[in-house]
Formats: sequence, structure tokens, C-alpha cells
Amino acid sequence: MRIAMIGTGYVGLVSGACFADFGHQVCCIDKDASKIDGLNAGKMPIWEPGLEALVKANAERGRLTFTTDLAQGVEGAEAVFIAVGTPARRGDGHADLTYVFNAIRELAAVIKPGTVVVTKSTVPVGTGDRIVEILAEEGAEEISVASNPEFLREGAAIRDFKIPDRIVVGADDERAREVLREIYRPLFLNQAPILFTGRRTAELTKYAANAFLAVKISFINEIANLCEAVDADVQDVARGIGLDNRIGPKFLHAGPGYGGSCFPKDTLALLQTAAKAGVEQKIVGMVVAVNDERKAAMAERVAAAVGGDLKGKRIGVLGLAFKPNTDDMREAPSIPLISGLLERGAEVIAFDPVAHEQAEKVLSGITYASDAQSVAEDADALVVVTEWDEFRALDLGTLAGKMRGKVLVDLRNVYDPEDARRAGLAYSGIGRGRLNTPD
Ligand SMILES: NC(=O)c1ccc[n+]([C@@H]2O[C@H](COP(=O)([O-])OP(=O)(O)OC[C@H]3O[C@@H](n4cnc5c(N)ncnc54)[C@H](O)[C@@H]3O)[C@@H](O)[C@H]2O)c1
Repeated sequence: MRIAMIGTGYVGLVSGACFADFGHQVCCIDKDASKIDGLNAGKMPIWEPGLEALVKANAERGRLTFTTDLAQGVEGAEAVFIAVGTPARRGDGHADLTYVFNAIRELAAVIKPGTVVVTKSTVPVGTGDRIVEILAEEGAEEISVASNPEFLREGAAIRDFKIPDRIVVGADDERAREVLREIYRPLFLNQAPILFTGRRTAELTKYAANAFLAVKISFINEIANLCEAVDADVQDVARGIGLDNRIGPKFLHAGPGYGGSCFPKDTLALLQTAAKAGVEQKIVGMVVAVNDERKAAMAERVAAAVGGDLKGKRIGVLGLAFKPNTDDMREAPSIPLISGLLERGAEVIAFDPVAHEQAEKVLSGITYASDAQSVAEDADALVVVTEWDEFRALDLGTLAGKMRGKVLVDLRNVYDPEDARRAGLAYSGIGRGRLNTPD
């Protein structure tokens, strides 16, 4: 199949590279010339495990190309995927569809009859209907419009794309279903279930999935608060409930609140869809509020761990990206945490194995260290914000030896509280009962 991908960001690049790896002929298009120039020179715009090798291998075989020229990129394509951003609109949280509709208008001028347009971007219910209208208004004829939401996770994006739990295709005509079945055929051979639904149902399925995962995270975070008050351990509670097949162990890790490029904006967009439809979504509304409050409360938690006053305190931060194995800083919990620390007069020194460059774009007034050891140097407290594997293996005794204060705030529950104590550190984790109270 010949496939065009409009938008070569996280989703567009990973999907394009994986489709090419299935054997399809893929052209990835982006408006950002520096991104396309970089990709043509073998430079990845994002840090994602395995991506560089996959892109290079398929580019070398001539199956994956990059361009800024839309007309050239969609030439001969049987399917054109839309993978542009749909950020939250400032003020109301509605999904901003400007990039999607602009791309569709540009596409309408060059698209050939018989092509299938597939929305991979996360878009509110009814966006496919509006795309059909715009294509008709612009004079593009005989175009099928389908929805194929993407469920990949950053940090494990290639694996998720190639071995998905399911593929959801929302299409109201047989032509679109046929083309998408053919595109994903290599995955059926791996037994990935494909679910065909109506287009509006597929659009809503993506939001329902992300909202549900956000509910799980916020639920365990609230249980963690209770654990701290009643001297119970949230790690064990999570394990105790997660072993129940009806609940499952994933997304039950208590922490500093969810961030990233999807959950925050998708929960807000779902609320907007619900408000427009006149249907209350009280659970998701509460989750958004609970998560916002949680992220804002993390600086106070650090202050409490060092005795209440952060003025003049040197705080070492381990991890900045919103989660491990990515350099994505969008809505990262490190951002409100660090702003809160700086506002309270702390000096902040931080290290992240890959997100330094992205972090510099959104965080100012802090010092960047080149490794975890330097972060510990003369620090009054160390705060673990992102659970990178390399932080799990740190020798706490060595770190403690370099520190001025002896406080470890473990917002990801990476360390064993007893190990920390043995290393001479006052340990403060999340939801770990009385152990959470620093000595
Ligand atoms: N990042 C994720 O983990 C993830 C997972 C699932 C779904 N999604 C959804 O996928 C969509 C894309 O997300 P992302 O993280 O890849 O975004 P991104 O910001 O990384 O990439 C979007 C790209 O689209 C380009 N673009 C915008 N308008 C264009 C146009 N008219 N023509 C060509 N290129 C254009 C931008 O330059 C940018 O490179 C969003 O709707 C998001 O919600 C993201």
C-alpha cells in the first residue's frame, strides 16, 4: 500500500516508520522544515527507544521518505493519515482542531477520488463528520473518511504499535474498512484484534480509554493519601487489588499526578464534548481537579520533608521528563514541582538522562547537572520525579555521603524505605504509611 502521513510528530513518525516496516510505501509530511531536513539527514526529532534504527533501516530500503511538500507526499497514496497535534485550546480545554482542519483544506486541493482519509490524531466525536463536510466544500470528491485512534505509549511506542492490544477502526463505508484491513494485515498475522465500529464510536473510544486510565491513576493517588493518614502501604494495597483480574495491576502506581501530551488534554476535551452534549461526566471532572491539585501540592511535600522552609535550600531533582524513556516534557509533573520550589526560595539542580534539551525550553532558573551524583552534591534534599531505570541502581550510601541534608523524597516509590534509612537518609515516599514521615 502507498500511505501518506500528514504530521511527523511522535505519532506520525512512529506510525509511519512502523507501516514502512510492515512493507508499505510511506511518505511522512510535515510543515516543520527543520524536522524534515533533520530526518532526511538521519536526525530524530524525538527520543524514543529503537526509533532511530527503525527509521534508518526503512529509509535506506526506500520505503520511508520525508517531505514538506504535501502534493508530492500524497501523490499515489491510497490512504492519507492525519497525525497532526490536537492540543487543548487555551481557556476552555476544548481540543484545538485548527491543525486538523488546515491539513484537510490543504489536502482537499490535491487529493484524488477513491482515497481514504484516516484520522489518527485524537479528535472529538463528530470531527470526522466535519472533515467530510470540509472536503465536500473544497470540491474533493469520492473520499472515504475513517477514524483510527492511536493508543501507543511514549517510551514503548514501537512495541505498542507493532504488538497492539487492539486496533480500532471507525468507518461508515466498506472501502475504508477494506483499505485499513489491508494496511494492518501484518498485525492480524500477529493476532492483534481489530475492532470495526462506527466513526463516531471510534473517536469516543480513544477519549474513554485515556479518561479511564486517568481515573485509575487518580484513584490510587487518593488511596495513597489515605495510606499516609492511617499507616498503610499503598504499594501493597495496589498489589493486593491489582492481582484481581477484574482490576489489573497497571496504572496503579501512586505518584506525583499524571502528565504528558495526552491525559491532561484528553480528559479536558472529553469534558467539553460532554458539556456540549448536555451530559455530565462527574467522575472525569473530579479526576481533572484531583490531578491538578496533586501536581500543585508536590512542592509543599518537599518543603515538609525538609522541615517546612525551603528558603536557601538546595534541592536536587532526579528526572524531568513526564515519564521514563522519553524526552517529552509536555505537562510533566516536574514543571509545577520546580516552579513551586523556586517560588519558595529553593535553589534547584536537576538531571534527566535525555530530557535536558526539551526541559530548557520550559524551565528556567535552575541548574542542569550531567549526572545523578552531581545532583546530590551539597543538596539538602533529593527528589525523585521520573523513575528512570538508572536511578533505581544508584547507591544511596554514596549519594547520602555527598549531600548536605539527608532527605530523600521519592515521588515514584522507587526505593525501599529501609534501604534509604540504612544509608542514613530520612525517607519520604508516596502513600507509605508512617514511614512517610521524615525522622
Ligand atoms: N504522543 C502520544 O503519545 C500520542 C499517543 C496517541 C495519540 N496521540 C495523538 O496524536 C496526535 C499527534 O500527537 P503528537 O504527540 O504526535 O504531536 P506532535 O506535536 O509531536 O506532532 C504533530 C506534528 O504535526 C505537524 N503539523 C501540524 N500541522 C501540519 C500540517 N498542516 N501539515 C503537516 N504537518 C503538520 C507539526 O509540525 C508536528 O510536527 C494528537 O492528536 C495526539 O493527541 C498522541
